This record gives sequence, structure tokens and C-alpha cells, in this order.
Amino acid sequence: MLSMQDIAITFNEGTLDEKKALQDINLEMKKGDFVTVIGSNGAGKSTLMNMISGSLKPDIGTVKINDKNVTMLPEYKRSQFIGRVFQDPMAGTAPTMTIEENLAMAYARNKKRTLKIGVSKKRKALFKEYLETLHLGLESRLNAKVGMLSGGERQALSLLMATFTEPNILLLDEHTAALDPSRAELITNLTGEVVEQFGLTTLMVTHNMQQALDLGNRLIMMDKGQIILEVSGEEKQKLTIEKLLHEFQRIRGTQMENDRAILG
Ligand SMILES: Nc1ncnc2c1ncn2[C@@H]1O[C@H](COP(=O)(O)OP(=O)(O)OP(=O)(O)O)[C@@H](O)[C@H]1O
Ligand SMILES: [Mg+2]
Repeated sequence: MLSMQDIAITFNEGTLDEKKALQDINLEMKKGDFVTVIGSNGAGKSTLMNMISGSLKPDIGTVKINDKNVTMLPEYKRSQFIGRVFQDPMAGTAPTMTIEENLAMAYARNKKRTLKIGVSKKRKALFKEYLETLHLGLESRLNAKVGMLSGGERQALSLLMATFTEPNILLLDEHTAALDPSRAELITNLTGEVVEQFGLTTLMVTHNMQQALDLGNRLIMMDKGQIILEVSGEEKQKLTIEKLLHEFQRIRGTQMENDRAILG
């Protein structure tokens, strides 16, 4: 489904601010793989996501989706087969538009369907059906402006918008980080359900190690622009936070500096 080969990118090359944000990245994902991504601040996690979504182009290397080389394909052309939810609840939705209008936009973009007035009744019923799966009562608020929703409600809506058209790849970048613990748990559970329901190929960045262990069938740890650890299957099921921190220390010879990751 996704193949990244020898990806590297350096920001501000040749200046004092030079930053090798990604180096030697090789990642293969099969259909239905759910990879959780952990790593300290600045490790390159969001940059990796940007490479997949097309908002950044690598200096070298190849990105393939479904065996198609998309390395140079612009972001808007990839949006049909990529769904994305960001950390910021404000990022994924249009605040001045209603819930229904936001859903319609996502629906039209990904399925390439035109919004004919004749089908609007049917579409409304469909949207209500989708919203019911969130158990937040949003199905009775189709005409509410999205800017009025709470952060948790907006993230749930963003998740729905990113997934209900069954994208080939779902990218989640700390999408529960801005939420209070109970809302974060709700969105975490929803994520697990939605991913399983549609069998989505998913990459999820999180600073919450427990979340990274609980969700998904694979885990990667990044540090200084590289993937330094990959665990999958049974080995992942047996993994604990202590073991992860120990692995980091073993590989890097230094303690993981990110307290957010440990406390999360
Ligand atoms: N557009 C850019 N221009 C210059 N430097 C950048 C740019 N984007 C990212 N960087 C740098 O590249 C490095 C990796 O950034 P990235 O956002 O991928 O980290 P991250 O792992 O997502 O961190 P965090 O956990 O804090 O979100 C950082 O040092 C960052 O400052
Ligand atoms: Mg980031």
C-alpha cells in the first residue's frame, strides 16, 4: 500500500540552521497495517507524515502508494487517497461552515461526487448515519457551525471526515494531544474502531507510549530523523513502556529526553 525508499530531507542546507529532518527512511506498509510512531520532539515524525501526504518533497528517495510513484505528485492530487487528522482541532475542519457542509466537502473531495440538490436528502441521511457512530449526538446538529463545537467534538468530526470515504492511507498526527484525558480516550477508541471497520492502512504519531502500545499491529520509534526501532506482531503485544525506554537507551546510549512521552 505504501512504500518509502531511502527518503532523506535536509532543511536550510548549508546554513547554521541546517537540519537533517529525515535520513535513510525505509518503510513498507501492507494494506490494513496500523503503525504507531513514537519519538522525541523534532525526531521527524510530522516530516514523515508530510512526505506521505505530499506537503513536502524529499531531497532524495521515492514514495509509492499502491505501487504508483507519487514522489512528485502534489498534495491536492493525493488527497483522494489520503485522509489526515492533525493535532490542532482547528486544522481539519472549516469553522464557519456547518457540520453538514463540512461533511459534504469531504465527501465531494474524496469520492469525486458532485453535490446535486436532488441527492441531498439521501446524503443527509447518510451523514446522520455516520455521525451516529460517534455517539456524541452530532447527528441532530447538522446545521450547527463547526466553530461552535468543542475540541473533542471537532476531532471526532475530523476523524470521520478523514475516514468515511475509506482512504487508502490514514495519517494521524498526535490527533488526541490537544484533548482532555476522557475526550482523548474517546477519540482513541473511535480511532481503533474506525480503522478496524474500514481496514484502513494507518500511520499514527503519538507522544503517549501507552497509546502506541495499545493500538496497531506495528510500532516504529524515530530519533534524529531516523527509524531506530521497528516492532510488530506478537513482539509488539509483549512490549511495555519500560522495555521501550530500555531499547532506546540501548540503541542510542542515552536516555530518552522526552518527558512528555513518558508521562503521556
Ligand atoms: N519547514 C521546515 N523548515 C525548517 N525546519 C523544519 C521544517 N519542518 C521541520 N523542521 C525541523 O525538522 C525537525 C523535525 O521536525 P518534525 O516536525 O518532523 O518533528 P516531530 O518529530 O514531528 O516533533 P514533535 O514531536 O515536536 O511534533 C525539527 O528539528 C524541525 O525544527
Ligand atoms: Mg510533530
